[in-house]
Amino acid sequence: MDKLRVGIIGTGGISASHIDGYQQCKNVEIVSGCDIDAEKLDAVCKKNNIPEQYTDHRELLVKSDVDAVSICTSHESHAEIAINALKAGKHVLSEKPMAITSMQAQQMLDVSKETGKLLMLGFVRRFGDDAELILDCKERGMFGDIYYAKASYLRRYGFPGGWFGNKARSGGGPLIDLGVHCIDLCRYLMGNPKPISVSGTTSYKLGKPVLKDTYVGDAPNEKRKADIFDVEDMATLYVRYDNGAVFYLDTSFCLNIKGPTGRIELFGDKAGAKIEPEVEFYTTMADRMVDIIPVKKAQFDFRGCFRREIKHFVDCVTLGIPCRNPAEDGLMVTKIIEAGYKSAETGREIIF
Ligand SMILES: NC(=O)c1ccc[n+]([C@@H]2O[C@H](COP(=O)([O-])OP(=O)(O)OC[C@H]3O[C@@H](n4cnc5c(N)ncnc54)[C@H](O)[C@@H]3O)[C@@H](O)[C@H]2O)c1
Repeated sequence: MDKLRVGIIGTGGISASHIDGYQQCKNVEIVSGCDIDAEKLDAVCKKNNIPEQYTDHRELLVKSDVDAVSICTSHESHAEIAINALKAGKHVLSEKPMAITSMQAQQMLDVSKETGKLLMLGFVRRFGDDAELILDCKERGMFGDIYYAKASYLRRYGFPGGWFGNKARSGGGPLIDLGVHCIDLCRYLMGNPKPISVSGTTSYKLGKPVLKDTYVGDAPNEKRKADIFDVEDMATLYVRYDNGAVFYLDTSFCLNIKGPTGRIELFGDKAGAKIEPEVEFYTTMADRMVDIIPVKKAQFDFRGCFRREIKHFVDCVTLGIPCRNPAEDGLMVTKIIEAGYKSAETGREIIF
């Protein structure tokens, strides 16, 4: 094909990162945009010279001559849009989380297999310099056996606003929205082990408090007042994997903590590492404890990661290279999150 023709479905916040990513690829043309909000759609399409506009994704799939679509909509719509797009013969890059139930995620995977079209998940953290360095070190045996990983993704007053607080549309709060990144990244770095059991808790203590001061990235108070908020404001998760490794996560939209804070750590029997906020290694040398700090910082960089993720999607479709973020991994992460919520609800560990 001359140029890969792409459509963007959902023209809200994150679509800018997808559009930027495609714009960096010389072999891509963004042909169409779609959003149920016509005003938002028009503004994004005009700003980016996207010629075709649709307010219904099904119309885009019929009328717009695209090879692939990015799905950048709210969580509840990912499955329906992905399935329709795959059936229409399009390759799909879907934002995280894959879906709000594992049944939907399974259907997405099945349709991708039936149609032979690529379904790639937007696990953007896999494309960080930090992830690349850790994987490189792991492959060279630096960590030995990685038997524990833990992640904290804690916002102090960081409810993103709008539909993110409406469980029917988001599937849940910080566990599905923020935790999804940590669950996937740690599992990926550990070599994608299979979960054997999951325990989770959810807290509904702070809700979406209206404060006089909010920090950058937080939703404005007016938006926070208006919306339904029936998701957890904080969650914990504990996963046992079949290789004996365990993973612990705590994540919040709202928590009385000095923060926000983000920390991801991996522990092996030869060395451990902190991945976030920047990579450091902890090991022993000559019978002494040593800390190793790479001279070139390895950190998650939002724009760079999106560009690498989109380029990878384009390369998968145009060159047929194997996909680093396959739908199988999205399904497994969806199962872990679902089990976390079920465990929180029942007060019991969920066995796979
Ligand atoms: N990878 C990341 O780091 C990252 C960061 C932010 C958001 N996201 C994900 O991106 C997705 C979108 O998040 P956002 O922050 O851009 O939200 P947003 O609310 O800003 O944008 C979503 C857009 O989708 C539109 N929409 C909803 N249902 C639709 C449908 N059926 N058809 C067409 N348009 C529809 C809405 O009108 C809205 O404009 C979510 O899945 C979110 O989790 C990922």
